[in-house]
Amino acid sequence: MELYSPSEILADSPAAPPADSLAAALACVSAGRYDEAVPIYRRLLAADPNNIDVLVGLGELCLLVHDDATAAIFFRRVITLDHSNMPASRGLARIASEGNPGAIQGGGPPLQVRVIRPMPLWDTDERFVGIMREITYSLVDRTRCYMLYQFALEALQSEGEMAEIGVYRGGTARLLAKACEGSGKKIHLFDTFEGMPSTDPSKDAHRQGDFSDTSLASVQKNLAGCENVFFYPGYFPATSPPIEESVFSLAHIDVDIYRSVLDCCRFFYPRMMPGGKMVFDDYGYETCPGAKLAVDEFFRDTPERPFYLPSGQCFVTKR
Ligand SMILES: C[S@@+](CC[C@H](N)C(=O)[O-])C[C@H]1O[C@@H](n2cnc3c(N)ncnc32)[C@H](O)[C@@H]1O
Repeated sequence: MELYSPSEILADSPAAPPADSLAAALACVSAGRYDEAVPIYRRLLAADPNNIDVLVGLGELCLLVHDDATAAIFFRRVITLDHSNMPASRGLARIASEGNPGAIQGGGPPLQVRVIRPMPLWDTDERFVGIMREITYSLVDRTRCYMLYQFALEALQSEGEMAEIGVYRGGTARLLAKACEGSGKKIHLFDTFEGMPSTDPSKDAHRQGDFSDTSLASVQKNLAGCENVFFYPGYFPATSPPIEESVFSLAHIDVDIYRSVLDCCRFFYPRMMPGGKMVFDDYGYETCPGAKLAVDEFFRDTPERPFYLPSGQCFVTKR
């Protein structure tokens, strides 16, 4: 799908919208509303052609719509402004390793920057790469998926069940199920499977009905062949009674909004095994300000401290 060209984006555009527009663009992207994100980015770029966050956002949007050549142009421009910019370096590395490497050289002189990065184990861990090959429908990027995969492998070493709240099309749910294959570990999956419930505009960027392009039947199909997965359609925590007596080694909380994250903290915290992990997918994302608010508020008065990861996730280890 070709949405625009870089020259179109730089053409005359209306004045920049309010300051929160980057967040609005990211929220559109995260909800899969790419066509709505483009005009917002257009206006932001017209107001500030060297805005690194906007250029990175455009590069990432181009990757999502498989336009590697345009993505490379945006990422290269970021690198000329900020030589060690990690998201742009990652984007270029991803195009070089997975996409169309020729795209990197297009539209300008060869890239001369040497960027030193940690090893991307998420691209070389064969079992993980194999699992991810089958998962084309997750909103969660590869690096975050690799963090979650490691949490799942760790949780396999201890007692307690697993749960995911926020399944959408089943991407990270399938990752958990595949990581646990053969272990007998139960994985409980909660979602409305009809999109986001009502949100609080004073705390959340998402709107009711975001992520409604899914269904219980399609998710069950995406998880066909996975063992020990249990589905609970409806509003959480109203759907929680069947697991009230369970204890957990891993709770993956990917619900994006204040009320839902807080309800998950209240439900799972007392049911976590000592050493068990609560992983919050969206803690560090501008598209989900309510998630961070809820986590910080809940853990203010507990002995545990939320541990922030560069991937944007955070996790809490139960004492
Ligand atoms: C970002 S998506 C989850 C992404 C998913 N983990 C993946 O791999 O793509 C967030 C999901 O949380 C669900 N959600 C949010 N609050 C909820 C609640 N209180 N009860 C049930 N589902 C909820 C939404 O329906 C949506 O599908």
